[in-house]
Amino acid sequence: MSTHISVPPQQLLERILTLEIVRVTERAAVSAARLRGHGNEKQADQAAVDAMRRELNKMPITGTIVIGEGERDEAPMLYIGEKVGINAGPDVDIAVDPLEGTTLCAKNMPGAIATMAMADGGTLLHAPDVYMQKIAIGPGYDRNVIDLDASPDENIRRLAKAKGVPTSAITALVLERPRHADIIAAIRSTGAAVRLITDGDVAGVIHTADTENTGVDIYMGTGGAPEGVLAAAALRCIGGQMQCRLILDTEEKRERARKMGVTDPKMIYGIEDMVKGDCLFAATGVTDGSLLSGVKFRKDGLIETETVVMRSVTGTVRIIKGEHRQIEKFHLD
Ligand code: FBP
Repeated sequence: MSTHISVPPQQLLERILTLEIVRVTERAAVSAARLRGHGNEKQADQAAVDAMRRELNKMPITGTIVIGEGERDEAPMLYIGEKVGINAGPDVDIAVDPLEGTTLCAKNMPGAIATMAMADGGTLLHAPDVYMQKIAIGPGYDRNVIDLDASPDENIRRLAKAKGVPTSAITALVLERPRHADIIAAIRSTGAAVRLITDGDVAGVIHTADTENTGVDIYMGTGGAPEGVLAAAALRCIGGQMQCRLILDTEEKRERARKMGVTDPKMIYGIEDMVKGDCLFAATGVTDGSLLSGVKFRKDGLIETETVVMRSVTGTVRIIKGEHRQIEKFHLD
């Protein structure tokens, strides 16, 4: 007797697309990595954008970029609203950051990644490229532990209580920026530790989901809104909580947000508001970092990559090590 195991068509497609999105971030990472340490952010970003766009356009999807390189008038490629894919297959929303940490790559510093997320059409938040206030913790806590509107010290105290440890046992990750001086002081006033990063808050937020290995309990501060949506997609897959608010402090920004469907400029977004259904998330290391190893260029043209890919429907996280032998030959259309 034969056993027939059926997978619903949508899930089957997602399973296939899981590997497809790995190709996309791998190629973007390799292209950016060739320009590591060249001191040219724009050039490295452009290389990643070109590679990512080329790979996205080979995918069996009808895709729309909803988080991309910018709005149409300022970004010629992977702009918000651009259609990608072979125009067959499922309608999907795509969030991309072909090179997250352009400065890290240009300076050959740890933590640059190529990243993207994919979800059913109409389910990812369409956010303008503005700043966003963010707070995030990993899985296993009650809903009411963090509050974007509470003070940083209050959030640390609540988290410590929920974790059952003194505040001095908490580590908060914060982007090192002058605008965060008050947040940093408030966190330190509780006895908690602050870990500073110079760039890269997608990885920063993801660190909260694996406290045991990263030592990071909470992320706080203001970073890019596109990075916020990407981080939310990752947490949707691996668990955790996040609260965010777009910083729409001028009429021009409010208007841009309105055009993207943001009706309440003060809204606090949870993960489910930014990623309304199941999603896929992938990131490939460009430079070595605590999340992923960077691209390695070995002898005889061998290129090694490391990618994390996640699926929210199952919560599966895969670390994929790629060995690419003929990337030059196959990367062009
Ligand atoms: P880029 O890759 O676009 O340079 O972004 C890096 C980054 O550090 C993000 O991770 C973060 O969200 C944002 O910049 C913070 O913005 P700013 O550098 O203006 O403070």
